Amino acid sequence: MMSRTYKHSDENRKLRNALGQFPTGVAIVTALDDELQPVGMTINSFSSISLAPALISWCIDHRAASHGAFTNARNFTITVLSEYQENLAIRFATRGADKFRDIHTDSNDAPVIPDGCAWFKCQAYRPIALGDHTMLVGTIIEFARYSVPALVYRDGQFQRLVADTEATTQAAA
Ligand SMILES: Cc1cc2nc3c(=O)[nH]c(=O)nc-3n(C[C@H](O)[C@H](O)[C@H](O)COP(=O)(O)O)c2cc1C
Repeated sequence: MMSRTYKHSDENRKLRNALGQFPTGVAIVTALDDELQPVGMTINSFSSISLAPALISWCIDHRAASHGAFTNARNFTITVLSEYQENLAIRFATRGADKFRDIHTDSNDAPVIPDGCAWFKCQAYRPIALGDHTMLVGTIIEFARYSVPALVYRDGQFQRLVADTEATTQAAA
């Protein structure tokens, strides 16, 4: 594979800043580890791949404390966060935080984070190592959608979508 590694810290920062111009949603992915304890982390690498079959992907950094747990897990659950859930996004991006302190968990299933915009329970495919991340692909086995606005991430900042009714009307005309 042809690829370039931006090792110099200045180049690396410039690349991160350029990539950060792409606005994304924010999700929390959860799974159960070998001892049936929940693990979870904030991600913005979530992406839909295919409708039939229903496939999604996300990528995990090799250095994540939960890398082993996620790459071994047979199932994972993705919750798309609503605009009111920035605090949860920060908590689940903080290594060592008591991430599930007020979230119902049980030893049967990767937990859904309550009050999100949507959730997807997935069966995991074999992990794919790519550069310094591992891509995890899942088949959606159950999902739900709620009518709440989504949290947005761009340029290292959490943002909210503001409805622009005029622009929406023009686009629809
Ligand atoms: C908005 C946002 C998006 C993130 N997206 C990812 C991602 O897609 N993949 C990843 O490995 N880490 C991502 N992170 C960083 C992880 O959430 C963070 O490193 C987390 O603490 C790793 O989990 P750990 O506690 O198991 O190390 C993101 C962080 C933020 C704030």
